[in-house]
Amino acid sequence: MSKVDNAQTVEQQYSDDKNLSIRISLHNKYSTNKYGYSNWIFDFYQFFNGCKILELGCGNGIVWEKRINRLPVGTNLVLSDFSIGMVELVKEKFKGNSNVSTEIIDIQEIGYSDNTFDIVIANSMLYHVPNLPKAVSEVYRVLKPNGKFYASTTGVNGMTKYLHEKLKEFNPEIDAFGDDSFSFTLQNGNDILSSKFNNINVYEYKDSLEITETVDLISWILSTNSMSEIDKSKIVGLDTFFGRCKDKNGIIKIPKQAGMFVAVK
Ligand SMILES: C[S@@+](CC[C@H](N)C(=O)[O-])C[C@H]1O[C@@H](n2cnc3c(N)ncnc32)[C@H](O)[C@@H]1O
Repeated sequence: MSKVDNAQTVEQQYSDDKNLSIRISLHNKYSTNKYGYSNWIFDFYQFFNGCKILELGCGNGIVWEKRINRLPVGTNLVLSDFSIGMVELVKEKFKGNSNVSTEIIDIQEIGYSDNTFDIVIANSMLYHVPNLPKAVSEVYRVLKPNGKFYASTTGVNGMTKYLHEKLKEFNPEIDAFGDDSFSFTLQNGNDILSSKFNNINVYEYKDSLEITETVDLISWILSTNSMSEIDKSKIVGLDTFFGRCKDKNGIIKIPKQAGMFVAVK
């Protein structure tokens, strides 16, 4: 089973937003914390008049859709991703917003001069990057002194741990979502960021999933780049297996662990 920073599978995975949308829908439908992860993330951002913001690995930009008007006067937002498909999507979505531009950028090589941005954002994407030290060093380089870096990510004690154990129980040949699948987590992120940043804080978002339709969980599993290429004969009966994981109320309870690093240059 491939790790989530395998460059080829990451490119295939995000050629468009089909897989990402499947995963976002599961969280929207079944998360127990109704405040919402995106709302929580946006509460951290300290925008100010005239600030320059760069988002890396922005995906389909869905989190900006209802929040783009929160940008203060004179703000300039660059939404970027290394996937042409994602950049085409956000370009179309925000074509009416003159303060938003879109660009193809690989976080490992950011084509901007030193000290350009007040804010850099990289949500749920650092674990896909093969050369993390280079990515962190690039982010640091393009930030202005006192600029802020916001990086949300997953923790090792959430959904992937649960699924790793359940899938092994279902079929011992399936070895997906193990501890070493994610290279940037809530647990090791501080060490990775401290190669450049001194001032780092981490915050955790409390949440879990209560899933009623096993088909939604299986779609989520198959949308990931760890499982997208699995031999389908290995998962025959998975639906029935997850059916048996439901409690007496017909709910599969799954823990989540996610959060946000805020690092200041
Ligand atoms: C899980 S999605 C997250 C999307 C969005 N940030 C969000 O939170 O909804 C990861 C995104 O990172 C992008 N990505 C992966 N590796 C990248 C790299 N080296 N540089 C820039 N973007 C990358 C993918 O194309 C994908 O759109």
